[in-house]
Amino acid sequence: MAETTTYRLILVGFGSAGQGLAQILRDRGGWLLRRYGVDVQIVAVCTRNRGTVYNPDGLDPAALLDAVAQDGHLLNLPGQRDWTPEDAIDQADADVLVELSTTDLATGEPATSFIRLALANSLHVITANKGPIALHLTDIRRLAAEAQLYRGYEGTVMSGTPALRMGWSNLAGCELSEMRGIVNGTTNYILTQMEQGMSYADALAEAQRLGYAEADPTGDVEGFDAAAKAVILANVLMNARLDLSDVERMGITTLTRDTIEAARASGDRWKLIARVWREGGAVRASVQPTRLPATHPLASVSGATNAITFTTDMLGDVTLIGPGAGGLATGFAVLSDLLEMHMLWAR
Ligand SMILES: NC(=O)c1ccc[n+]([C@@H]2O[C@H](COP(=O)([O-])OP(=O)(O)OC[C@H]3O[C@@H](n4cnc5c(N)ncnc54)[C@H](OP(=O)(O)O)[C@@H]3O)[C@@H](O)[C@H]2O)c1
Repeated sequence: MAETTTYRLILVGFGSAGQGLAQILRDRGGWLLRRYGVDVQIVAVCTRNRGTVYNPDGLDPAALLDAVAQDGHLLNLPGQRDWTPEDAIDQADADVLVELSTTDLATGEPATSFIRLALANSLHVITANKGPIALHLTDIRRLAAEAQLYRGYEGTVMSGTPALRMGWSNLAGCELSEMRGIVNGTTNYILTQMEQGMSYADALAEAQRLGYAEADPTGDVEGFDAAAKAVILANVLMNARLDLSDVERMGITTLTRDTIEAARASGDRWKLIARVWREGGAVRASVQPTRLPATHPLASVSGATNAITFTTDMLGDVTLIGPGAGGLATGFAVLSDLLEMHMLWAR
């Protein structure tokens, strides 16, 4: 029997992504143990308003999910703690902080402070939260390296579709000269609906009804979310030091149904493209609505799907297409980081 390694997780945030991870552990925990020798236990879950629970021997993911489904909170479960996330990071018997709280692209807080504290307390860190990674990547990498701890953030770009890992691992050895991506599913869904004749307002309302767009859609439709992902792609895969303010940004609100229909009549498509490219010795980034010919690999990517094309010196263009959001997909991103950490650390 292969040796078993146990990882005890603190989850900060138990929304769509946290629940996606719990579903994976509920449904595949036994398989992960047999296949990889990895025993993944959630020992603490911290939320803002829905309770905080702790069990050093592991919380039952099915019970966590049932509680949220039935009650909308965790307050009736055993193991209640009157803890802040900082208390959990300080006091829980754990190995990994999984940071899945709400994104703040202005400050990266409170997630960045949770991550810093976890690294100071010898916890590995995995997050899908763009805030800390778009704003504080250099610092987080340095703290993790100094403490010899793992830091994973695959879920920050295209959720479970391995865009970052494709760039730094699978394409290692290639020089990347450009990346162009549809990295925001909400806007791609809206543009796809507008191609089919819907007005911007109706398409946005439909996206909100389906849960793709938030009540305040500014972050998506004005391109802030895509700009944060462009910064992460540039800094992780091209060793750049870009800030959000370095990204030339334009959202989709200026596009009319007529503009989109005219392009479609000639076989073209409008897409919100995040682009990162080398220019001279610098790395530049933009987010802009872009008219693509139908032959372009990104032109046929419709609905909430995401895609990215890497332009490389040895392979030419390589395109990756897959889901860019969803609880399960984001839970998978966390799992993929955890397994990478296991492979790097346990061998
Ligand atoms: N869902 C996706 O498709 C997706 C894809 C890629 C990346 N992400 C990123 O993953 C993270 C989580 O996303 P999500 O969709 O799961 O969000 P969500 O459904 O809004 O859930 C956020 C969770 O964070 C908790 N939270 C917020 N502030 C907190 C604080 N100060 N202390 C403790 N808990 C706090 C919330 O607590 P309450 O339950 O009490 O409100 C909630 O449980 C975000 O950063 C998001 O950008 C998500």
